Amino acid sequence: MAIQFTDCSVRFGQKVALHPLTLSLSEQRIGIIGLNGSGKTTFARLINGLVKPSDGRVIVNGLDTVADDKAVLGQAGFIFQNPQHQLIMPIVREDIAFGLKNRGLSGAEIEAKTDAVLARFAVSHLAKRRVHELSGGETQLIAIASVVVTGPKILILDEPTNQLDLKNRRLVASTIDGLEQQVLVISHDLGLVEDFDRVLLFHEGRLIADGPAEQTIRRYHEEAGC
Ligand SMILES: Nc1ncnc2c1ncn2[C@@H]1O[C@H](COP(=O)(O)OP(=O)(O)O)[C@@H](O)[C@H]1O
Ligand SMILES: [Mg+2]
Repeated sequence: MAIQFTDCSVRFGQKVALHPLTLSLSEQRIGIIGLNGSGKTTFARLINGLVKPSDGRVIVNGLDTVADDKAVLGQAGFIFQNPQHQLIMPIVREDIAFGLKNRGLSGAEIEAKTDAVLARFAVSHLAKRRVHELSGGETQLIAIASVVVTGPKILILDEPTNQLDLKNRRLVASTIDGLEQQVLVISHDLGLVEDFDRVLLFHEGRLIADGPAEQTIRRYHEEAGC
């Protein structure tokens, strides 16, 4: 099981957001770092088909993100940089249940899965809360729960600790730690990825370092000049 990029590039009009890239990702924990606008989100969105390659292709666990786009969405769950934008229903448990609709499950099965995921992430007490009244940390946990409940094999989190206080940051970090899926995390919070199996560094749309966390993070400091 792996994510395979082959000669994959992305252009938005004249702008090259990602220069041609060939690589395979099979590690359980992968960090993605780099300056603002370096192409991190574009790279990550290619994996679940939210962005399509302008050239080349991306194969995720044997599925092509263009030809098999619907199946790929089920394989790779994405937690957005602003997770409040992905909470669709007004109440927490409705939002989590929403992701399970149209899957041929009975109402009782949907209830049971919703309860189980809320309990698993220790957020059962939030079940009846309004999603737009949650704190930043709570919003992040509910967003993760609402994606995990749908059963993806890969989880991609875009800056999950952005704007969280120390306590919520720790809570989200330990939640990520406990995920059994292959996890890719985009982060400016370098502590979050420092013990990951592999870290990728992007700079101006190019992958410029790829290896052990310590080595890639050191390169990032050199590149940023601080
Ligand atoms: N939908 C889009 N349309 C036009 N340009 C985009 C779009 N998405 C990203 N870009 C541009 O591509 C570059 C890389 O963006 P992005 O992948 O979001 O970077 P990062 O996540 O590292 O901040 C930036 O210059 C950004 O402005
Ligand atoms: Mg981004």
